[in-house]
Amino acid sequence: MSVKMNGKHLAPFISEDEYKALFPQVKLAHELLHSGQGQGNDFLGWLDLPVNYDKEEFARIKKAAAKIISDSDVLIVIGIGGSYLGARAAIEALKGTLYNNTCKKTPQIFYVGNSISPAYLQDVISLCEGKDVSVNIISKSGTTTEPAIAFRVFRNMLEKKYGKEGARSRIYATTDKARGTLKELADAEGYETFVVPDDVGGRYSVLTAVGLLPIAAAGCDIDQLMAGAAAAREALAVCDENNDCYRYAATRNILYRKGKAVELLACYEPNFTLMNEWYKQLFGESEGKDQKGLFPASVIFSTDLHSMGQFVQDGARIMFETVVDIQKPQKDLYIEKSDENFDGLNFLADQNMSVVNRKAMEGTILAHTDGGVPNVLLEVESLTEFNLGYLIYFFEKACAISGYLMGVNPFNQPGVESYKKNMFALLGKPGYEDRKAELEAKLR
Ligand code: PA5
Repeated sequence: MSVKMNGKHLAPFISEDEYKALFPQVKLAHELLHSGQGQGNDFLGWLDLPVNYDKEEFARIKKAAAKIISDSDVLIVIGIGGSYLGARAAIEALKGTLYNNTCKKTPQIFYVGNSISPAYLQDVISLCEGKDVSVNIISKSGTTTEPAIAFRVFRNMLEKKYGKEGARSRIYATTDKARGTLKELADAEGYETFVVPDDVGGRYSVLTAVGLLPIAAAGCDIDQLMAGAAAAREALAVCDENNDCYRYAATRNILYRKGKAVELLACYEPNFTLMNEWYKQLFGESEGKDQKGLFPASVIFSTDLHSMGQFVQDGARIMFETVVDIQKPQKDLYIEKSDENFDGLNFLADQNMSVVNRKAMEGTILAHTDGGVPNVLLEVESLTEFNLGYLIYFFEKACAISGYLMGVNPFNQPGVESYKKNMFALLGKPGYEDRKAELEAKLR
């Protein structure tokens, strides 16, 4: 099993009887999900995606990635939310947060269209100077403002640099199969297009072309990623006490019902930073509605032990911690003995640094548990493509089951529309005139 839930530190907080009491509800959530009878059942494509994906498109993704690798120094990935986080999370988990400094045979990757900051966009534009650039614009709706602004900028850049024809062969559009402004433009201009399936929501889309094209362009093995997800699909399809994904979902729910308001996802590998962000979107958008939900927060330890560690140990007792325990780092470092022992660190010497990291983790878990913070462990052998695919599917399924246990629709996101309406009104988008006057009066 690539991901295992270890509940040994939960004993002071949850009894076995509590799991037994919740099991009928977990079973119901499982049946709702697998029968397609639950809320949001239009968006269950992710459930069988690891085996039911479009094989012809998958081959085209690999071909396009090989072309990008062969003709580009830089790949610009344009997208926001579910159309951005999964790709970046997977690439950084597998290749490291310093990927852009360490990549040799694959292009540097810059992510834009995930904010409206002109300063950030200008910096990326300067980084492209003198380099060969390709663009992957990703938007399911094809109308999201942030990526649309960035695409306008980079499309212009490419057309100026390579001419219309040259730009055409460097722009890849990932969008709806038939609808939306981006699809219309891509068809009119002749860009190569990839599809975001109708029945897969943004935050569940990392294993579609949305994530797979950038991930493949970074030199990651997407066959193994899908194989890992397929293994998880099979292993987690049965609703019994051996299903660690369901046990994790049940644990979250029991702790929520006991008054915990925050789930803090902790990892001791900085390469997991963007996976933390992906997890926050997945759970935040799926559960946070109808005035319910666990607030998903994240930390990288030991870094954040020197900042948020104080709160976790000693602040308001509102949280539990889910530790993603990566058992073997991608690289290790041997700590040498020093004759002078000038820093007094010889007690750490003659061993790998990963041992020190592990002891820091074990010590922290015990301290936090003693401090009244329940700790759940999700053990992952190592950050390989296979294990990451497994972990992605594990979280997706845990999120769906958690949402049903909480009594919300885990597949919609009605709340994200409110800011958009206000922003459009304040910017004078046609059709929003009444709202504009109302909002400006409030701002005065
Ligand atoms: O999960 C979601 O649905 C959102 O985060 C979307 O992915 C995000 O808003 C981007 O939407 P789109 O792909 O339509 O541009």
